[in-house]
Amino acid sequence: MKLSREPLVTSARIQGRVAELAAEVSRDYAGREVILVVVLKGGFIFAADLVRRITVPVSVDFIRARSYRGQESAGPIEFQWVCEDGIAGKHVLVLEDILDTGRTAAAILDYLKRHKPATLALCTLLDKPARREVAIVADYVGFTIDNHFVVGYGLDYDQQGRELPDVWILDMA
Ligand code: XMP
Ligand code: MG
Repeated sequence: MKLSREPLVTSARIQGRVAELAAEVSRDYAGREVILVVVLKGGFIFAADLVRRITVPVSVDFIRARSYRGQESAGPIEFQWVCEDGIAGKHVLVLEDILDTGRTAAAILDYLKRHKPATLALCTLLDKPARREVAIVADYVGFTIDNHFVVGYGLDYDQQGRELPDVWILDMA
């Protein structure tokens, strides 16, 4: 795995932005309890940092979404849902590592909506709007980036690179 010479987003910038996002979320959800639904696997490090800075009552759940892609088009998305108490009537905030075409997040939001949460919102660490194929806008965005494939801070290339503290551009050359 060959990486860019410098990180695209340094760990220090990530930590600063995560603190800002946590403050925003805590302000917006004041007086309410929030369920963070973390999209596995990529969201796990972002979630671990964010949850420790959120000051409203919070519980954590996880969802796994896999898209089976054919040669040409994106296939259907299959969910593995790990939810102990249900989300009906609750305030749900979905945490994604990155919004690319938007298909995964859109499918997750549709799926969760069917379980009748009181409110449903989306927070993504990274946003690649240039790649968007479905109309979806995150309520909270860490960093908007250009169209690069990135790894680190939970994001992987073929399961490698999740442990890196910074976000790096994968050098495809
Ligand atoms: P869509 O296209 O559904 O994709 O918005 C979202 C999922 O695709 C993966 N993805 C990436 N993973 N570096 C990664 O490590 C990237 O640059 C990247 N772009 C998309 C990721 O799993 C995300 O949840
Ligand atoms: Mg991945």
